[in-house]
Amino acid sequence: MKSYFITGTDTDVGKTWIIAGLARAFRNMGVNIGIMKPFAAGTLQKTGFKSKDVEILSRAAKVNDPENLVNPQFFPIPASPYTAMKNSEVHVKVNVDLILQNFKKLSSIHDFMLVEGMGGIMTPILKNYYVTNLINDLNLETIIVTRTRIGTLNHTIMTCKMAKKYSIHVRGIIINQIDLDGYDVNVLKDDIEDVTGFSVLGTVPFFKTLDIDQIANIFQTKFNLKILN
Ligand SMILES: Nc1ncnc2c1ncn2[C@@H]1O[C@H](COP(=O)(O)OP(=O)(O)OP(=O)(O)O)[C@@H](O)[C@H]1O
Ligand SMILES: [Mg+2]
Repeated sequence: MKSYFITGTDTDVGKTWIIAGLARAFRNMGVNIGIMKPFAAGTLQKTGFKSKDVEILSRAAKVNDPENLVNPQFFPIPASPYTAMKNSEVHVKVNVDLILQNFKKLSSIHDFMLVEGMGGIMTPILKNYYVTNLINDLNLETIIVTRTRIGTLNHTIMTCKMAKKYSIHVRGIIINQIDLDGYDVNVLKDDIEDVTGFSVLGTVPFFKTLDIDQIANIFQTKFNLKILN
């Protein structure tokens, strides 16, 4: 099976929860799925996993891989790796080789990998090295998560244009309906497809209470997961 890099049109568009639902759906279907969050940044959790995202993803995929394998680099401030690394309180140096080695290790123990990006597609990792470069070095196809807020078309088009510029293969776009006062999802789907030329794989609705199994159920009943094989 193919592995995918999941990027978003911005931070907070729902990448983690979308991957969590997808990973659980594949696990329910008997697939030996693995997850990875190469770089995580944010508040250090007091117990368990350092990164909340890594905790959600590991639980969703039902994996017991060590945190330092799944998330080789953690920055304890909410910032891009490039910005975090310049902060004197952060003692982590970006190590892309480590990310690539860990991805290889995880790929050898799982049949299928879902890798979460950080922020959007142009989040800087090093000077002149962005998420786009990481996707290319990992040699992965990409799925873009977008939201429904007015303004999302601008972000979605920019993300798709940059993906094309870096010759990244975009498998499709998932609309996450986190903004109930935003675009009508059917109108948004048509406009995204018309303007970008990429297909919308489906929509994940707004949930008052987020539950991995409920999102997984959306993927198993409303999406055609076979096309991701
Ligand atoms: N379908 C949804 N319904 C309701 N709330 C959602 C939905 N998807 C995500 N959220 C909420 O939106 C917020 C952002 O989601 P998430 O953490 O998955 O974003 P992200 O793109 O992974 O962010 P980051 O760039 O920090 O990794 C979270 O607070 C989450 O609870
Ligand atoms: Mg996340």
